[in-house]
Amino acid sequence: MDGTTAKSVSKGILRCDPNEPRASKCFSDATAVSSDRDFAESVIETAQAIVLVLDPAGRIVRFNGYMEHLSGYRLDEVRGKDWFDVFLPVRDREPLRDLFSQAFDDVPTRGNVNSIVTKDGRERLVEWYDKPLKDAEGKNIALVAVGHDITERVQAEDALRRARDQLEIRVDERTREFVALNARLREEIAERHRSERRERRLRDELAHVDRLTMMGEMASGLAHELNQPLAAIVLQSEVILRLAGDQGQSIPPELRKSLEFITAQAHRAGDLIRSMREFVRHAEPQRVALTVMEVIEDTLPLVQQELRESGIVLDVKISDPLVQVRADKIQLQQVLLNLIRNAVEAMETSDSGGRRLDIATRIHGAMQEVAVRDTGCGIPEGAAGRADRLFDAFFSTKSKGLGLGLAISRSIVEAHGGRIWAAPNTDQGTTFTFTLPITNHDCKNEIESPRIRRG
Ligand SMILES: Nc1ncnc2c1ncn2[C@@H]1O[C@H](COP(=O)(O)OP(=O)(O)OP(=O)(O)O)[C@@H](O)[C@H]1O
Ligand SMILES: [Mg+2]
Repeated sequence: MDGTTAKSVSKGILRCDPNEPRASKCFSDATAVSSDRDFAESVIETAQAIVLVLDPAGRIVRFNGYMEHLSGYRLDEVRGKDWFDVFLPVRDREPLRDLFSQAFDDVPTRGNVNSIVTKDGRERLVEWYDKPLKDAEGKNIALVAVGHDITERVQAEDALRRARDQLEIRVDERTREFVALNARLREEIAERHRSERRERRLRDELAHVDRLTMMGEMASGLAHELNQPLAAIVLQSEVILRLAGDQGQSIPPELRKSLEFITAQAHRAGDLIRSMREFVRHAEPQRVALTVMEVIEDTLPLVQQELRESGIVLDVKISDPLVQVRADKIQLQQVLLNLIRNAVEAMETSDSGGRRLDIATRIHGAMQEVAVRDTGCGIPEGAAGRADRLFDAFFSTKSKGLGLGLAISRSIVEAHGGRIWAAPNTDQGTTFTFTLPITNHDCKNEIESPRIRRG
């Protein structure tokens, strides 16, 4: 704009030369400009936002009525004063002064948020949109900032976030409670099932014991009855031998051997029956000093036939023939018989070429150890890792087994002060071992170990 132009704008007042021919045009332009300014002024004053103008040094040039209302300061009170010192909390002054110089030099900045302090000391949170004002040479001469008071919005957002966090915590807690409750319920149900199973097993075992008690009574009666024919067998064998002698007849040696064998076996059967009746009656066992070797030697004839029929190679190794234990011979025979019968049964399914039964004794500290080793099917799956289960009463994997052989063997061995256990062999089969306390510790086992082989 130069001095010859028909209109000039000075200090916000529009002037017109009425002599100018284009006066009417000028007047209408002026009216338009004047109303633009008024319009801008009224927008600034009625805006529901802060409108702030700072000079390059950060001094307050002006702000609008909204800011006066918000801050409690009148413009006259603070015009020309440092914006940062008057309106910013101490903590923010230095960092925001740096930001101010950047905004002044640079492009417009949008969305910076900071607090301002009102005259009565409250803090309000304001979001700013800044734009530098340039003169005709393009030099920045002021910074116009428009600010929105977002205090309530941020507080509402914070409250919402806190409520959401609380809600999440509650949901987490409730979920954890439900999971724990669920686990407790499952555990209770499982425990109920377990105790039902235990009760059922107990009922079965009781029914079994009832049947066994009945069987025991029947066996006792049977044993009594059997004693008569056994006595008759012994008597008749002896009568034959005696008659032949009286009549001066010589009996062929094979016949004599057979008759003597019949007598011996009938005596043994009588002993077994006596032992069984005592067992049923819970009678005290007859303990005497004996060697394990003699128990083994007396037991083997009872199973020899079975071993031969099953094609089992037997190997017996007594490394301590003089060692004595105090025991009931019949009961120890019963233990050995149970172990040998189990071994035979375990080998029923194994390769007939490799069936071996090894019986070996040795001294271990103050105990006599007896091991019965087979090449059978091994410890059954139901007791894998818990071989002591085999000794539980009624544990059996056999269709016709009572599951009592090992339980009885254990009670006999333990009543003698020993122990019995089972262990899998490294190659094949199982070894059952039992111990008995040695009574003649000073005995010398210097003689060559006898070795009995039967096949
Ligand atoms: N030598 C062995 N090899 C593998 N498993 C064995 C052996 N001896 C015993 N067992 C297992 O232990 C179980 C219990 O044996 P136990 O002698 O107590 O009862 P049983 O032989 O089944 O019946 P019974 O009371 O008529 O002897 C057997 O059913 C079998 O599964
Ligand atoms: Mg058995």
